[in-house]
Amino acid sequence: MANPSLLILPGDGIGPEVMTEVSRIIDWFGTKRGIRFDVSEDLVGGAAYDAHGTPLHDDTMAKAQEVDAVLLGAVGGPKYDALDFSVKPERGLLRLRKEMDLFANLRPAQCFDALSDFSSLKKDVVSGLDIMIVRELTSGVYFGEPRGIIEEGNERVGINTQRYTESEIDRVARSAFDLAMKRNKKLCSMEKANVMESGILWREVVTEVGKDYPEVELSHMYADAGAMQLTRWPKQFDVIVTDNLFGDLLSDLAAMLTGSLGMLPSASLGKPMENGRPKALYEPVHGSAPDIAGQGKANPCACILSLAMALRYSFDLGDEATRLEEAVEQVLADGVRTADLLNVEGATPATTSQMGDAVLAALDASL
Ligand code: IPM
Ligand code: MG
Repeated sequence: MANPSLLILPGDGIGPEVMTEVSRIIDWFGTKRGIRFDVSEDLVGGAAYDAHGTPLHDDTMAKAQEVDAVLLGAVGGPKYDALDFSVKPERGLLRLRKEMDLFANLRPAQCFDALSDFSSLKKDVVSGLDIMIVRELTSGVYFGEPRGIIEEGNERVGINTQRYTESEIDRVARSAFDLAMKRNKKLCSMEKANVMESGILWREVVTEVGKDYPEVELSHMYADAGAMQLTRWPKQFDVIVTDNLFGDLLSDLAAMLTGSLGMLPSASLGKPMENGRPKALYEPVHGSAPDIAGQGKANPCACILSLAMALRYSFDLGDEATRLEEAVEQVLADGVRTADLLNVEGATPATTSQMGDAVLAALDASL
C-alpha cells in the first residue's frame, strides 16, 4: 500500500523554521517507528506571492486537495501589508480552508503543568486546563456576501455579512458533539442570539442537533459572556462550539490562558474523502511572528503538536500522537524553554532547533 501523503506548506515568518523541526520529527517516525509518509513541500502566503504573484498557486491548491493531510506553518508579514487585499498572504490560507471545505476547526487550549506559572492568570485557575474550541471555519462573516467597500452619497461604507445556513451550523455542531462524546460530554455553544438573527438560528440548530446526543450536557452562552467566563473560570468548559469570527477571538483568548500561544496546535477538518480520512489541514494557532523570524527564537512546539493532531485525526495513530505529546510535555518538565516560555531574567533560552533536539531525544527515550 502507498504511504499516506503529506503536503508541507511552511509559509512565512517563523513558519519555515518551526516546520524544519517538524520535518525532523516526521523523519524520526519513519526511521524509528516505520511510519512513513510521502512528503511534498510547496509555497503559501507571502512566499507564494513572491514566487508566483499569488498567495496560493492553483497547482498547490490542487495538490492540497489530493493529499491525505496538509501541514501549514504560518502566513503573513509586514512586507505584504501594502498588497492588494485579493493577494494578501492570508487569502492563501482562507482559500485552502474554503476550497477544501474545512468547516470544523479544532483548537485545543491545554495548560501544560510545567507552564502553569506562566499564564497571566492565577495558577489554580489554569492548572490542568484542557478545553477544546470548535470554530466554524468556512462561512460566517469571513465569507458572507455582500462584502466590500462601496460609495454611498459622499462617503465610503465597509460591508461584511454574517451568514449561516442551517446545514452549515448542523455539520459543525455534529463535529463538536462527536468530540464532546469522546471527552467529558459537555458542550457550550456561543453566539449572540440577543442581537443577531444568525445567532438565533445557530442556537436553534445546535439545540436540535443536541437531541441526537442525549448524553452530552449542552449549554448556550452569549459570546461576550463566554469571553468573560473563559477568563474567570475556564475549567468550567469542556468543548465550546462557535462561529468563525467569535471562534477567531475566543480561541486566541483561550490560547493565552495557557501561558503561550507558542504551544497550541489546531486541526481543520472537512468531509471524509474516499479513503475515509477527513480532508484536513493542521497548523499552529500562532502567526508568522515576523519580529523574531529567522533568528532561531521561535517555539516549534505548536507546529510539532499539530503533527500530533494529524497522527490522531488523519492517520488513526492515536498512540503515536500521544507519544509525541508526551515527549513535548517531558521536554517542558525537564525545563527546556524557548524564549516565549521564559520569564526569568538572565536565563538563556533554547533555540528553535535545540527545542527540536530535545523533543527528538525524548522520543528516543520513549522507545
Ligand atoms: C487564525 C488567523 C486567521 C484568521 C488569519 C491569518 C486569516 O487569525 O487562523 O486564527 O483570522 O482566521
Ligand atoms: Mg486568529
